[in-house]
Amino acid sequence: MPASLTPAIVTPQAPLTPTATLGSLVVADARRAAVLDRAGIDYCCNGHRTVAQAAQDAGVTVDDLLRSLDLPAEPAHPAATVTATAPTPPRDLTTLAHDIVDTHHAYLWDEMPRLAALVDKVHRVHGDRHPELAEVRATFAAIVGDLDPHLAAEERRVFPMIRRLESGAAVPTADLRAGIATLRAEHDHVGGLLRQLRSLTAGYAVPTDACGSYRAMLAGLEAMEKDTHAHIHQENNILFVQVDVLLAARDATPAE
Ligand SMILES: [Fe+2]
Ligand SMILES: [Fe+2]
Repeated sequence: MPASLTPAIVTPQAPLTPTATLGSLVVADARRAAVLDRAGIDYCCNGHRTVAQAAQDAGVTVDDLLRSLDLPAEPAHPAATVTATAPTPPRDLTTLAHDIVDTHHAYLWDEMPRLAALVDKVHRVHGDRHPELAEVRATFAAIVGDLDPHLAAEERRVFPMIRRLESGAAVPTADLRAGIATLRAEHDHVGGLLRQLRSLTAGYAVPTDACGSYRAMLAGLEAMEKDTHAHIHQENNILFVQVDVLLAARDATPAE
């Protein structure tokens, strides 16, 4: 691969303006993920939306949203303010893809069966007094049904193609583009199911009669939502955007 095509993930200097996209602002400063999570604003699947659009959808003023995203250059307590699930991106795509698999995929492979058993148990025990648990169970099953083949496709097909692209090896670029388009659509679908789960549980509010398992289920589902938002952000707004840059550079390079 020519030196000019050697990829390096560059943190963009996204100016904080009403027309800046949410994805670029979180890439520029990962602490903004927590701000947007708290405001209930999706920055991962909808990372292409501008601050102005997000403010309108969330029913807040653009100025208020801009102010909340304007964080001090040096956090007073970095360890407490930077979320563990929104790390500084590594400098190349191969490392980023490895990191996503080692952290977010490993988390989901462990957590999906554990939470499935917990959701089943809570539905069995509390379903008569909480009829919404039947829908929680069905929605969670739909999320697992989506994520299982999605994670496998990334690990076995799309991420290996990205590694080959980065190394300069031959890659079926049409397949890679189609694969990424499918993954983005699947992210949107999972994002919708996560919103549905949040709505069904009234924002993961703990009912007064909840037992320990019920509490653990709600905490586990909310943690999965947060991790999946960070996970999708890493893919949609960093990894796949950088792949597009590499593909455009390859298209612009005359064949030897
Ligand atoms: Fe992934
Ligand atoms: Fe994904």
